[in-house]
Amino acid sequence: MQEIKLLKDADVKGKRVLVRVDFNEPVKDGVVADDVRIKAVLPTIAYLREHGAASIILLTHLARPTSPQDPSGDLTPIRTALGALIDMQGIELHENLRFNPGEESNDPEFAKELAALGDVYVNDAFAASHREHASIVGVPKLLPSYAGLLMGREIAGLTPALTPPPGALAIIGGAKFETKLHLIQKLLSQYSELLLGGALGNDIIKARGLPFGASIVSHEPVPIDVAINDRLMPPMDAVVMSGPGAEREAIIVDIRAEERIIDIGPATSTLWAEKIAAAPFVLWNGPMGIYEEGYVDGTNVLAEALSKSPARAVVGGGDTIAALTKHSFDAQKVFVSTGGGAMLDFLAHGTLPGLEALRN
Ligand code: ADP
Ligand code: 3PG
Ligand code: MG
Repeated sequence: MQEIKLLKDADVKGKRVLVRVDFNEPVKDGVVADDVRIKAVLPTIAYLREHGAASIILLTHLARPTSPQDPSGDLTPIRTALGALIDMQGIELHENLRFNPGEESNDPEFAKELAALGDVYVNDAFAASHREHASIVGVPKLLPSYAGLLMGREIAGLTPALTPPPGALAIIGGAKFETKLHLIQKLLSQYSELLLGGALGNDIIKARGLPFGASIVSHEPVPIDVAINDRLMPPMDAVVMSGPGAEREAIIVDIRAEERIIDIGPATSTLWAEKIAAAPFVLWNGPMGIYEEGYVDGTNVLAEALSKSPARAVVGGGDTIAALTKHSFDAQKVFVSTGGGAMLDFLAHGTLPGLEALRN
């Protein structure tokens, strides 16, 4: 199989370099609320400048705009945030790729149009590389193509999670069981224990015939072999709510019909923190509670434990990172991915369409 070519192998001197980035950042009131993905691409831009690229054309999508008039797709906030970080001399930010329907349909004509803008293509959009879109899989068919520095960093950071050491722990939370089922099945064959919190924990509680009250659960049933797997542990207690301000801590068997689980409980977070402290390796995706509504205690206890633990770890997921903004981890031990869906797909399949497209 053809190797993926890396940016260091590219001759970019005097070339127009097309760089697919993922600047799909949260925008609030016309301002970028978190610029992590923008900052993560700066090393690639600096590298291209140092190696004499004639120009750098950045390609990104933002949001899921329904038309070029849809304000959610306006790149002005991104351009402003980027301009605040670097000198834009010689750099062009192309319009939102999703303003052209050919992007998502992977239209070869649109890929041709994009490819004509450059001489060399670099994919540094790890977080979008699970999408078979024109800028991700179409353009590399047409130009000499390379993986950017962030792409290299993500692969190096995530790869240890594909072959975890004995005793490794996976913590999966968040919502939409069906979107994480494939990953959970894969992890069950490799990790010693899987702790399932968030709405995913609700699904296991339900599948095991325990009371889940009015908690949010997935419409799809959990496959029985997953539900009964004894390496999979749902919470044993929870913070539950029956109405505004009516919260209490309850052991799972005690949950009433009108109550819904909004966070893991204190006994669960204490036990899971101990497991984090003892594990050689931790993979974590998904918040433990409805963090947007302030139910972050469980997530915070686990994050504290992780920052103190000697364990090596991989952490990622759009909402997970948003829920962990108050925590900082030792970068030597904990790899924090910029990917959401892309990280989940990479962990489930060991590769991504955007990576395979670079084997040309
Ligand atoms: P990530 O983006 O990190 O992969 P997800 O998108 O899977 O995470 O999940 C995040 C969502 O999960 C948040 O909107 C959060 O409110 C929700 N969530 C977490 N715990 C619960 C719960 N107990 N009940 C309902 N939703 C929950
Ligand atoms: C992400 O934020 O996960 C990527 O940018 C992909 O965005 P999408 O889910 O809208 O394709
Ligand atoms: Mg999410």
